[in-house]
Amino acid sequence: MTALLEVSGVSVSFDGFRAIDNLSFEIGPRELRAIIGPNGAGKTTFMDIVTGKTRPDTGRVLWGERSVSLLRLSEARIAREGVGRKFQRPTVFEDQSVFDNLLMALRKDRTPLAVLFYRQSARDRARIGELAAEIGLKDQLYRKAGELSHGQKQWLEIGMLLAQEPRLLLVDEPAAGMTLAERAHTAELLKEAAKTRAVVVVEHDMDFVRRLGCKVTVLHEGSVLAEGSLDHVTKNRQVIDVYLGR
Ligand SMILES: Nc1ncnc2c1ncn2[C@@H]1O[C@H](COP(=O)(O)OP(=O)(O)OP(=O)(O)O)[C@@H](O)[C@H]1O
Ligand SMILES: [Mg+2]
Repeated sequence: MTALLEVSGVSVSFDGFRAIDNLSFEIGPRELRAIIGPNGAGKTTFMDIVTGKTRPDTGRVLWGERSVSLLRLSEARIAREGVGRKFQRPTVFEDQSVFDNLLMALRKDRTPLAVLFYRQSARDRARIGELAAEIGLKDQLYRKAGELSHGQKQWLEIGMLLAQEPRLLLVDEPAAGMTLAERAHTAELLKEAAKTRAVVVVEHDMDFVRRLGCKVTVLHEGSVLAEGSLDHVTKNRQVIDVYLGR
């Protein structure tokens, strides 16, 4: 299998502190992967590097069939290449309906003129219907996003990212602040999304990670400490020591 994303030998220091230390990581084109690890392990920094927000001091980050280096591309360009990122706090347009939020996300050309002259097409409406069904908000299409629960807002934001059809979706701590039922739905949604793209999920909640049922990468001090199924990595002596703070 050729990797969709290949990170190799990446390091980055902040004021002399090595947040990412010789990190190597690969993800396949339709792979679901969970990244776990203690606070400060470098999980978010890893996502910052892939999305171009943080530039590493050394190493390579290669993307796609043509092995394009993401390190030379701007954040906007990386997003256009097909890397979508979900931050922890939902950033939906609260005064707009679910439908309009999804519609805005579907518009690729966001120049003022394009927005001004935009006409809804039947194709857009159909796609919005599909997206709403995928994220479980089909019955909420005409509600204002501001009225949704925290979990529903998170799903809407995932839907807005999916509207842009990323080839890789990066999701940082999606389950935080969710009810048990919302977490279960979120796990299903991400599993579904990973059938047609790669999805990388950072999460502390182990029940959630178990639901994902995917390969797990354990980060510690900016490097990969262990990799494999959740059962495999949680039996790893080094992983146990790190989580027990030894
Ligand atoms: N822009 C920055 N400037 C300085 N230090 C930073 C910066 N970004 C991250 N760090 C440091 O790098 C280390 C890794 O942070 P990171 O946020 O990647 O950890 P994390 O694994 O996401 O942790 P958590 O589980 O708490 O979210 C931390 O010690 C953090 O303080
Ligand atoms: Mg983090």
